[in-house]
Amino acid sequence: MLVTGGSGQLSSYLFEELASEHEARGVDLREPIFDSAKGAVTIADIRDPDAMLDACRGMDAVVHTAAQVSVQRSTEDPAFDVETNVLGTVRTLKAARDAGVSKFVFISSAATYGNPHYLPVDEDHPTVPLSIYGSSKLSAEHFVRAFGSSFGMKWTVIRPFNFYSPRADPKSPYSGVITKFTQNAASGTPLKIEGDGSQTRDFLHAADVARLVRLVLESDRNGMVLNGGSGQATSILDLANTVKKVCPRPVNIEHVAPRTADIKHSVAKVDRAREMVGFSTRISLEEGLKAFFRNRV
Ligand SMILES: NC(=O)c1ccc[n+]([C@@H]2O[C@H](COP(=O)([O-])OP(=O)(O)OC[C@H]3O[C@@H](n4cnc5c(N)ncnc54)[C@H](O)[C@@H]3O)[C@@H](O)[C@H]2O)c1
Repeated sequence: MLVTGGSGQLSSYLFEELASEHEARGVDLREPIFDSAKGAVTIADIRDPDAMLDACRGMDAVVHTAAQVSVQRSTEDPAFDVETNVLGTVRTLKAARDAGVSKFVFISSAATYGNPHYLPVDEDHPTVPLSIYGSSKLSAEHFVRAFGSSFGMKWTVIRPFNFYSPRADPKSPYSGVITKFTQNAASGTPLKIEGDGSQTRDFLHAADVARLVRLVLESDRNGMVLNGGSGQATSILDLANTVKKVCPRPVNIEHVAPRTADIKHSVAKVDRAREMVGFSTRISLEEGLKAFFRNRV
């Protein structure tokens, strides 16, 4: 199978997850830095139709993880977001279809839901994205569905909530809260909580998302939309305290001004992934956070 965005965080776990029973190749704009992806990734742009056709030839399935992943960048440069997340997805779908690929798994995002109308958020929740990023992911989902109905390609959309791992790029200005908290804790810098820290998120280890992808690939079901979440709401204050608990050095926590227009609460309903493909999380938040400090502090 082909994994787009093969040099990324999620793909590195996916190559490990698939290694024993599946043959996986990847494409990416950049060389891989993680061992599991080394030797498996070809440099190619998902927006390049010829390169994607070459990459898709002989593949039974495509897992499409490549994306412009930053909400902030999507606001600054919406057209680039559309080029990568919408046009890039359409070009990948077209190449997959032309190469006779039978299954397409698209890594979308919980950003497609926008501000939750109710909690936990199930897959039938209205999709009213607040960000350009969420809009581009939702648009891409529609093309995935349409390629399925137009050409008979089997498809699944996975909507991960907040996934994390020590392999997320800590230098990126767009890194998530776990990357920032663990990096600060390891360097002795205070953790900065925006507001009172009562806002909640659903955190899932990237290795668990990779396992969900494998279960989807091994399922015969078609046309699934599945949340990728833990089903646990964790407040940012609890997250900071858990980082403090597992970090081997003293950690200070500071409160700073709240972010305006931030989503207050978010948590996934995860029953469908359990019922359809037998998924449940294996890595607890505390266990996942401990790994950030091994060989680091
Ligand atoms: N991290 C999260 O919390 C989260 C939550 C929901 C959804 N997602 C989605 O999960 C997917 C994987 O996320 P990740 O954290 O592994 O991201 P990542 O940034 O580590 O990996 C994405 C990869 O895509 C590659 N890429 C970008 N544009 C490309 C192009 N034009 N052609 C080829 N490759 C290109 C990048 O070089 C990168 O290696 C993304 O689609 C992201 O939107 C992430």
